[in-house]
Amino acid sequence: SHRVKLGPLVAAIDQGTSSTRFLVFNSKTAELLSHHQVEIKQSFPKEGWVEEDPKEILQSVYECMERTCEKLTQLNIDISNIKAIGVTNQRETTLVWDKETGEPLYNAIVWLDLRTQSTVERLINKTPGRNKNHLKHKTGLPISTYFSAVKLRWLMDNVDKVHEAIVSHRAMFGTIDSWLIWCLTGGKSGGVHCTDVTNASRTMLFNIHTMDWDPELCDYFGIPMEILPRVRSSSEIYGLMKICSSRKSGALSGIPISGCLGDQSAALVGQMCFQDGQAKNTYGTGCFLLLNTGAKPVMSDHGLLTTVAYKLGRDKPAVYALEGSVAIAGAVVRWLQDNLGIIGSSEELEKLAASVGTSYGCYFVPAFSGLYAPYWEPSARGIICGLTQFTNKSHVAFAALEAVCFQTREILDAMNQDSGIPLSQLQVDGGMTSNRLLMQLQADILCIPVVKPSMPETTALGAAMAAGAAEGVSVWSLSPDDLSEVTSEKFEPQINPEESELRYARWKKAVQKSMNWET
Ligand code: G3P
Repeated sequence: SHRVKLGPLVAAIDQGTSSTRFLVFNSKTAELLSHHQVEIKQSFPKEGWVEEDPKEILQSVYECMERTCEKLTQLNIDISNIKAIGVTNQRETTLVWDKETGEPLYNAIVWLDLRTQSTVERLINKTPGRNKNHLKHKTGLPISTYFSAVKLRWLMDNVDKVHEAIVSHRAMFGTIDSWLIWCLTGGKSGGVHCTDVTNASRTMLFNIHTMDWDPELCDYFGIPMEILPRVRSSSEIYGLMKICSSRKSGALSGIPISGCLGDQSAALVGQMCFQDGQAKNTYGTGCFLLLNTGAKPVMSDHGLLTTVAYKLGRDKPAVYALEGSVAIAGAVVRWLQDNLGIIGSSEELEKLAASVGTSYGCYFVPAFSGLYAPYWEPSARGIICGLTQFTNKSHVAFAALEAVCFQTREILDAMNQDSGIPLSQLQVDGGMTSNRLLMQLQADILCIPVVKPSMPETTALGAAMAAGAAEGVSVWSLSPDDLSEVTSEKFEPQINPEESELRYARWKKAVQKSMNWET
């Protein structure tokens, strides 16, 4: 049959908190040729706990690959044109598996999970001056429930199987990238146990200056170093795909997996933020604003994280970022749908909120997992306030969208203060950016333009670029000139800044109330 002639193709696995995707790009044009997406179940076994099933996550990857390969075949595109595969993932989410059986020993503990709150409070209380930034000089991170080390510690202390596997030298720890790469390169029969520097920098066990696991940090959390994956750059061949040949996706066997980046780093790459001072904000389950700070890690005085942005090759320099992390963005939409039932789908939210066009003085602080940047307050809890008898579900819906914008404003302010050079516009991406009302509100609340690329899958694109540029693959040059055709849409602020400031001041009051909740 007729086959379409194309340049080399590069694929990406994008394993996010809420869904998994497999996407195939043309490396010449960065055009998205085919993709498939599968939702991921989350379980909430106790208040504040959030888990996912590692096997379901792996199955979702297989399913997405299979369906995407079917679609490519229907498009007359030869799967053998795919030259490399990149992996990008929800960061920090922690699991331990048995390397002999290949079985996970407990569910993955999702980054949002709060079960380690008391451990974190105990650790902070033990530091000189109760300083949550006690380990920041090495890790760039505050001691928080967010990062992997405390989750791993919990697994070791509370799950017998994990403890036993460690004692008998059969345990492997990994974030989702490590789990997927190990499984996809052969699993118990020879899978590669590795992670990349960006994912490693979110564990609290990694020294962002030496760019390696840190024995003192491992000691501090009581983590045996032999269970840790090998740390590699974000762009090099880690191993080759091994897929059962009875499937369509069996044709992916033998293709190198050669890119790996935490999803927020991947979005920075996909948005071409390669220059010092460039930034992007991704609206996924959470919301993450990353500013490229170049070859030097910059420590924040305003509650931001210092993290590894990327290292695009073994011999390439590490590039760092300042990060403002917001735990709950898209997750508030899912909550309105699943827990309150006031919308039937995420698309309905925009309509419902637009029907009133104001929160009518209602403020919604979705501190479901405590508050992240710039507060780092695990004991904060969500509140909806400013209610009158006039308030209805449309106002609450509007307030939920505004909450995402106000949280972004808080981290943008912190970033401007840390860097001294205010951003003149904000590059955005992620699922929620299809909500035009949200984008307009965001521009209004930031008082700067918001710019959204017309190809929304920037996270996957970044991982594909890293994979395609790897030594030994070299089908992608990572030059912004290659993507000169990238088009975008701009949202200009429309309300006057005074009104914007007034609303923001009220939001800050609401945040204070959410933080003093338990006292
Ligand atoms: O740090 C968590 C982050 O990587 C999750 O991203 O896109 O699943 O909200 P997302």
